[in-house]
Amino acid sequence: MTNRDQMDLYRKRVETVASTINDRIGGASPETALILGSGLGELAREVQDPISISYGELPGFPSSTAPGHSGTLHIGRLGSQTVLVFEGRFHIYEGYDPLDIAMPTRVAARLGVQNFLVTNAAGGINLDLQLGDLLILEDHINLMGANPLTGANIDDWGPRFPDMSSPYCPVQRRRLLEIAQEEQIGARSGVYAAVAGPNLETPAEYRMLRTLGADVVGMSTVPEAIVAAHEGLKMTGISVVTDLCDPENLQPVSVEEILKVAGTAEPKLTKMVVRLLEE
Ligand code: HPA
Repeated sequence: MTNRDQMDLYRKRVETVASTINDRIGGASPETALILGSGLGELAREVQDPISISYGELPGFPSSTAPGHSGTLHIGRLGSQTVLVFEGRFHIYEGYDPLDIAMPTRVAARLGVQNFLVTNAAGGINLDLQLGDLLILEDHINLMGANPLTGANIDDWGPRFPDMSSPYCPVQRRRLLEIAQEEQIGARSGVYAAVAGPNLETPAEYRMLRTLGADVVGMSTVPEAIVAAHEGLKMTGISVVTDLCDPENLQPVSVEEILKVAGTAEPKLTKMVVRLLEE
């Protein structure tokens, strides 16, 4: 099979998933899509009058296996918008192809979504960050060794060489920082470094990430941001700092602790996102 054949098959899968969702939601046109990060699924409970579809009911859509990810799509109202909420995302460390990881973003774009917002759990590289703080993404560094645009380009979806000079919407970022200040929520903007995982980093790796200019590190979000840029969507990313990555004083950390901190910080995140979508 040529690269072009492979991409034509992928395009058909994306279009089939989009039309399956469209049939279920009866032509409601979502404006914003959200992908919720590890342990950050509670925001989905805020969706009003949701239609919920398990990923397993969407032929051609990957299924979610990571801890803290349920694998359900919710469509309904959040704030003043009709939203698609993907509760559960796909990661490189699970063995998914970058094209699978991009599938929610591609499907959202086919359904006419203009805004894309993702949340994630991340390690705090910038030592000014505290557990449970929020980092509003301003930029990223892709260290995953993978890219969701690898393969033949689908020109109808976006350009072969997309511009990445402003990968995250500055207007939404500024607004989120204002909301955080009004709500007295600890938040700043910064740089997300994406690694493949699944292991957390060594002290030398955390030192390297700080030298590279990263404020936080995680295992997601960047594939979605690259596809959002390709599709011309407005992208917003919010990290919850779930562990502190001080190379000189590194404490062992487990995924249970990461999910626990994510769960504790979640109400702040929910408040910020709901307020943003009300405007
Ligand atoms: N490193 C990578 N990914 C993560 C981390 C981390 O320290 N914390 C949460 N996700």
